[in-house]
Amino acid sequence: MRVVLAYSGGLDTSAILAMLSEQGHEVITVTVGVGQEGELEGVEEKAYRLGAVKHYTIDARREFAYRMVSAAIKANALYEDKYPLGTALARPLIAEKVAEVAVKEGADAVAHGCTAKGNDQVRFDTVLRFYLRDDVRIIAPVREARLTRRKAIEILARHGVSAGIHGKYSVDENLWSRSIEGGILDDPMAEPPEDAFAWTVAPEKAPDEPLYLEVGFEKGVPVSINGERMSLEKLIAVLNKLAGSHGYGRVDHIENRVVGLKSREVYEAPAALLLIEAHRDLEKTVYTPRELRFKRLLDQYWTDLVYQGLWVEPLRLVLEEAINYMNQWVTGTVRVKVYKGSLSIVGRSSDYSSYDAALIDYDRGWYPSDEEARGFITIWAMHSIAALKARGLRKV
Ligand code: ARG
Repeated sequence: MRVVLAYSGGLDTSAILAMLSEQGHEVITVTVGVGQEGELEGVEEKAYRLGAVKHYTIDARREFAYRMVSAAIKANALYEDKYPLGTALARPLIAEKVAEVAVKEGADAVAHGCTAKGNDQVRFDTVLRFYLRDDVRIIAPVREARLTRRKAIEILARHGVSAGIHGKYSVDENLWSRSIEGGILDDPMAEPPEDAFAWTVAPEKAPDEPLYLEVGFEKGVPVSINGERMSLEKLIAVLNKLAGSHGYGRVDHIENRVVGLKSREVYEAPAALLLIEAHRDLEKTVYTPRELRFKRLLDQYWTDLVYQGLWVEPLRLVLEEAINYMNQWVTGTVRVKVYKGSLSIVGRSSDYSSYDAALIDYDRGWYPSDEEARGFITIWAMHSIAALKARGLRKV
C-alpha cells in the first residue's frame, strides 16, 4: 500500500514509520511546521533513514497564525476557561496538509500517531474523513497495535536510530501553546516540577522590575507591540519570550476530554493568555453590555467545537461570520503589565469606545435628575417585585 504518514519526527511516529516500511508499505512522510521550536531540524533525514520513500516538509506557520490563531483570538478561545487550544487548533491544519499530499500522491491510506485515549485522534480523523475518498483508509497504529513507548524504542533501536531525548513527559508544541502531559503530572495533587517547563521561568525567579507593553489590535487581531508593526507569527513569538521571561503563562487544570476522560493538563502559553486577556478587555471597551454577553456565548460555542474536533462542523463557519462581524470594531491599544507571573491590564483606548469620561464623572457634565433616577429604578425592578409578591414572598 502507498501510505501517507503525518510525521513529527518524534518517538511514536518514527516507530510507526519503521513498522509500516518493514511491513512492505511505501511510506510518504509529511511534516507540517506550525511553530514547534527547533523540532523540524533533521526530521527529513530521519524519515529517509527509517524507510520513507519520499518526504514533504510543509511550513504552515503563517497560515496557522492567520487562519487558526487569529480566529481563536477573536473568539477569546479558552477551553473550560483555561486552555488556549494550541494543539486543538493545529491538528485540523496538519490533517488538511496531510490529506492534500495523500490526494496528490494517490495514497491508499493515511497514517497518524494518535492514541485511543486522546482528543487528537478525533481532530485528525474528522478532517481526514472530510478531505479523503471513503475508500482511503486511516491507519492509527498506536490505537490498533497498542504501540507502547517501550516497543517504540525497541523498533527504533533495530533501525540503528536512538530514541533521542524523550523526557519524562509527553509534549506537544506549536506557536500558540506547549502542552505537557504524563509522568508525575498524572497525579493531580503533585505540583508540576520545574523541569516540565521550557517557555516560562518560575514566577519567583522572574525579574523584580515589571514589564510594560502596549499591544495594538486591528479588527480583533493583534498587529503591533509598542507601536512596532509585525506579522502575527512574529508577534506571538516575541510575546512568548517577553511574558514567559516574567514567569507569566502557566496553566494547570483538570480538563474534560471529548473521549469521556478527565485529564490533568499543564500548559505554557504566555502570548496566548496575554493576547486573549487584552482582546477581551478591548471588547469590553467597545461592545454594549448586550453585545458583550452574547459574544461570550458565541465564543464558548466556537471554542467547544474546535476543542471537540469538529472543525468540519458548518456551525463553526456561522459562528465565525458573527465573530468576525463583531470584531470589526475591536481596534485599539491595550496597555499590559506583567510582573512575576501575573498580568494586569492597566490601560486601553479605542476609536470605537463609547466610554466617556465626562459622563461617568460625579462632579461635572450630565447628571440625571432625582426624578429620572427614581422613575428608572421603580420600573426596572417592577417585574421582579411583582413576581415575588405573587409567590407570597413580599411581606409588605
Ligand atoms: N489536552 C490537550 C488537547 O486535547 C493537549 C493534547 C496534547 N497532545 C499530545 N499529543 N501530547 O488539546
